[in-house]
Amino acid sequence: MRQQAEPIRENGAASSPGRGRIGNGVSPGRHENVSDGAGLREQIRERIYAAIDDTSEDRLEDLRSRLLPYVGGVKLGPAFLTGRDSGLVVDSFKGVQRFLDLKLHDIPNTVACSVRRLFCYRPRVITVHASGGYEMLRAATEAARDHEADTGIPRPMIIAVTVLTSLSAEDLAMVGQDSEVREQVLRLGDLALRAGLDGVVSAPRDVGALREEFGDDLKLFTPGIRPERDATDDHKRAMTPEEALSAGADYLVIGRPLTRARRPDEAAERLLTSLERFFQNGHAQGSSFPASQRVALRG
Ligand code: C5P
Repeated sequence: MRQQAEPIRENGAASSPGRGRIGNGVSPGRHENVSDGAGLREQIRERIYAAIDDTSEDRLEDLRSRLLPYVGGVKLGPAFLTGRDSGLVVDSFKGVQRFLDLKLHDIPNTVACSVRRLFCYRPRVITVHASGGYEMLRAATEAARDHEADTGIPRPMIIAVTVLTSLSAEDLAMVGQDSEVREQVLRLGDLALRAGLDGVVSAPRDVGALREEFGDDLKLFTPGIRPERDATDDHKRAMTPEEALSAGADYLVIGRPLTRARRPDEAAERLLTSLERFFQNGHAQGSSFPASQRVALRG
């Protein structure tokens, strides 16, 4: 039997993203929280994490001033965090959520220690590898819950990476896993849920299957997003933000389309405006999405 993940609280905010998925369901116009344009824009903004990977200090300053007003959070990985002081990282990204994408994978005790050490970044989200196993996943969630119990500071979401999108079925076979990639993603999603994790990182190709399998029990964080259809960079299968949300993504992780834009603020403004229009129109007009997949902001 699946274990229900705990309700989730935003750091320093009263809202509960666990119950506020942007996903399939009723038309946005009927949602009680979507009362006006400003409210809708804010709800959309909260669902966007800008992936800030390798960046110079100059560029960082530019991104901070131009991009942060448009996003709910930043996703930071080893390429960004290595060699940077945690206090400076927190100061740099005040006012937005911090998503630490370190993909932890080790013995349970070491992962629990790592999760505890990461609290100095005051993270909203921490990633671990689901393939680290049940005990490792439990150790990560327990470290987060214990921290909340001890300090009263809302715990970060612990979310799982299932199968890296760079791996094919052949790659899995080479490490002794004779499953189809999709089957392994769902298996590890189930393991993550049973271990009490809050969600998974979902490649665009898997978001629909994960949503169908797990309903609202797992939050889905989806990278591989490209607002422009033709600019896929190194993604084999990218989705537009609208497609990803329609498929069931809760949060969009967007890197280069924002961070490499000549004017990140203009790129972000276009993204928010496009998504606003999408929700305001019940995203039906001119859309190829079936009515049953209309997107809603649910509270
Ligand atoms: O620049 P781009 O939008 O492709 O960045 C996406 C971010 O999401 C990067 O930080 C990348 O490492 C990450 N990513 C991921 N899982 C994937 C694809 C990208 O975590 N399957």
